[in-house]
Amino acid sequence: MTKTLQWKTSFETGHSAIDEQHRGLVECLANITACMGDKKAFEQCLAFRDLMKQHFDDEDKILLWADFPRQADHQVSHRESLEKFGAIYSECGEACTKSTDSPCMENLSYLLLDHFLRGDLDFKSYLQTKNLADDSA
Ligand SMILES: [Fe+2]
Ligand SMILES: [Fe+2]
Repeated sequence: MTKTLQWKTSFETGHSAIDEQHRGLVECLANITACMGDKKAFEQCLAFRDLMKQHFDDEDKILLWADFPRQADHQVSHRESLEKFGAIYSECGEACTKSTDSPCMENLSYLLLDHFLRGDLDFKSYLQTKNLADDSA
Protein backbone atom coordinates (compact mmCIF):
# COMPACT_ATOMS: atom_id res chain seq x y z
CA MET A 1 0.00 0.00 0.00
CA THR A 2 1.29 3.45 -0.89
CA LYS A 3 2.34 5.64 2.00
CA THR A 4 0.83 9.12 1.91
CA LEU A 5 2.97 12.16 2.52
CA GLN A 6 1.93 13.86 5.76
CA TRP A 7 2.23 17.58 6.42
CA LYS A 8 5.09 18.44 8.78
CA THR A 9 5.78 21.73 10.55
CA SER A 10 9.32 21.58 9.12
CA PHE A 11 7.73 22.34 5.70
CA GLU A 12 6.49 25.74 6.87
CA THR A 13 8.04 28.82 5.29
CA GLY A 14 6.18 31.30 7.53
CA HIS A 15 4.49 32.91 4.51
CA SER A 16 0.79 32.16 4.99
CA ALA A 17 -0.24 32.16 1.30
CA ILE A 18 2.66 29.89 0.32
CA ASP A 19 2.10 27.55 3.27
CA GLU A 20 -1.61 27.33 2.47
CA GLN A 21 -0.86 26.31 -1.12
CA HIS A 22 1.75 23.81 0.07
CA ARG A 23 -0.84 22.21 2.36
CA GLY A 24 -3.24 22.08 -0.60
CA LEU A 25 -0.65 20.19 -2.63
CA VAL A 26 -0.15 17.63 0.18
CA GLU A 27 -3.95 17.23 0.39
CA CYS A 28 -4.21 16.75 -3.37
CA LEU A 29 -1.55 14.04 -3.19
CA ALA A 30 -3.61 12.30 -0.49
CA ASN A 31 -6.63 12.51 -2.82
CA ILE A 32 -4.71 10.71 -5.57
CA THR A 33 -3.70 7.98 -3.11
CA ALA A 34 -7.32 7.61 -1.98
CA CYS A 35 -8.46 7.12 -5.60
CA MET A 36 -5.74 4.71 -6.73
CA GLY A 37 -7.05 1.85 -8.82
CA ASP A 38 -9.89 4.04 -10.09
CA LYS A 39 -10.24 6.46 -13.06
CA LYS A 40 -10.52 9.28 -10.54
CA ALA A 41 -6.82 8.86 -9.67
CA PHE A 42 -5.95 10.21 -13.11
CA GLU A 43 -8.27 13.23 -12.69
CA GLN A 44 -6.70 13.94 -9.30
CA CYS A 45 -3.26 13.70 -10.83
CA LEU A 46 -4.20 16.37 -13.40
CA ALA A 47 -5.63 18.49 -10.58
CA PHE A 48 -2.30 18.11 -8.78
CA ARG A 49 -0.43 19.29 -11.88
CA ASP A 50 -2.70 22.36 -12.20
CA LEU A 51 -2.30 23.23 -8.51
CA MET A 52 1.45 22.88 -8.79
CA LYS A 53 1.58 25.17 -11.86
CA GLN A 54 -0.59 27.77 -10.13
CA HIS A 55 1.51 27.53 -6.98
CA PHE A 56 4.79 28.02 -8.86
CA ASP A 57 3.36 31.08 -10.66
CA ASP A 58 2.14 32.61 -7.40
CA GLU A 59 5.36 31.83 -5.56
CA ASP A 60 7.46 33.31 -8.38
CA LYS A 61 5.43 36.54 -8.11
CA ILE A 62 5.82 36.67 -4.30
CA LEU A 63 9.59 36.17 -4.54
CA LEU A 64 9.86 38.83 -7.24
CA TRP A 65 7.89 41.24 -5.05
CA ALA A 66 10.12 40.37 -2.06
CA ASP A 67 13.22 41.00 -4.20
CA PHE A 68 14.57 37.56 -3.33
CA PRO A 69 18.19 37.52 -4.61
CA ARG A 70 17.97 33.97 -6.04
CA GLN A 71 14.54 34.48 -7.61
CA ALA A 72 15.71 33.63 -11.16
CA ASP A 73 17.35 30.36 -10.03
CA HIS A 74 14.27 29.54 -8.02
CA GLN A 75 12.09 30.06 -11.07
CA VAL A 76 14.33 27.63 -12.99
CA SER A 77 13.87 25.03 -10.20
CA HIS A 78 10.09 25.36 -10.66
CA ARG A 79 10.43 24.68 -14.38
CA GLU A 80 12.56 21.63 -13.58
CA SER A 81 9.96 20.36 -11.12
CA LEU A 82 7.28 20.66 -13.82
CA GLU A 83 9.51 18.72 -16.22
CA LYS A 84 9.99 16.02 -13.58
CA PHE A 85 6.23 15.90 -13.13
CA GLY A 86 5.92 15.40 -16.91
CA ALA A 87 8.36 12.48 -16.78
CA ILE A 88 6.52 10.81 -13.86
CA TYR A 89 3.20 11.37 -15.62
CA SER A 90 4.41 9.80 -18.89
CA GLU A 91 6.00 6.87 -17.10
CA CYS A 92 2.78 6.17 -15.18
CA GLY A 93 0.72 5.87 -18.36
CA GLU A 94 -2.43 5.86 -16.19
CA ALA A 95 -1.22 2.74 -14.31
CA CYS A 96 -2.58 4.48 -11.18
CA THR A 97 -6.12 3.92 -12.48
CA LYS A 98 -5.57 0.15 -12.57
CA SER A 99 -3.41 -0.56 -9.54
CA THR A 100 -3.33 0.64 -5.94
CA ASP A 101 0.42 0.25 -5.89
CA SER A 102 1.73 2.39 -8.75
CA PRO A 103 5.27 3.77 -8.12
CA CYS A 104 4.20 7.25 -9.25
CA MET A 105 2.99 8.16 -5.74
CA GLU A 106 6.43 7.73 -4.28
CA ASN A 107 7.88 9.77 -7.13
CA LEU A 108 5.32 12.56 -6.68
CA SER A 109 5.92 12.61 -2.91
CA TYR A 110 9.63 12.99 -3.53
CA LEU A 111 8.99 15.77 -6.05
CA LEU A 112 6.95 17.69 -3.49
CA LEU A 113 9.39 17.10 -0.61
CA ASP A 114 12.21 18.28 -2.81
CA HIS A 115 10.27 21.46 -3.60
CA PHE A 116 9.46 22.13 0.07
CA LEU A 117 12.81 21.24 1.62
CA ARG A 118 15.50 21.78 -0.99
CA GLY A 119 13.73 24.50 -2.97
CA ASP A 120 11.61 26.63 -0.71
CA LEU A 121 13.55 26.56 2.55
CA ASP A 122 16.09 28.64 0.62
CA PHE A 123 13.80 31.70 0.82
CA LYS A 124 12.43 31.04 4.34
CA SER A 125 15.30 32.76 6.19
CA TYR A 126 15.31 35.59 3.65
CA LEU A 127 11.59 36.37 4.07
CA GLN A 128 11.89 36.20 7.85
CA THR A 129 14.97 38.43 7.98
CA LYS A 130 13.19 41.00 5.81
CA ASN A 131 10.01 40.68 7.87
CA LEU A 132 8.12 39.63 4.73
CA ALA A 133 7.10 36.17 5.93
CA ASP A 134 3.50 37.20 6.52
CA ASP A 135 1.71 38.44 3.42
CA SER A 136 0.04 41.25 5.35
CA ALA A 137 3.53 42.81 5.59
FE1 LIG B 1 9.47 27.10 -4.82
FE1 LIG C 1 6.47 26.29 -2.96
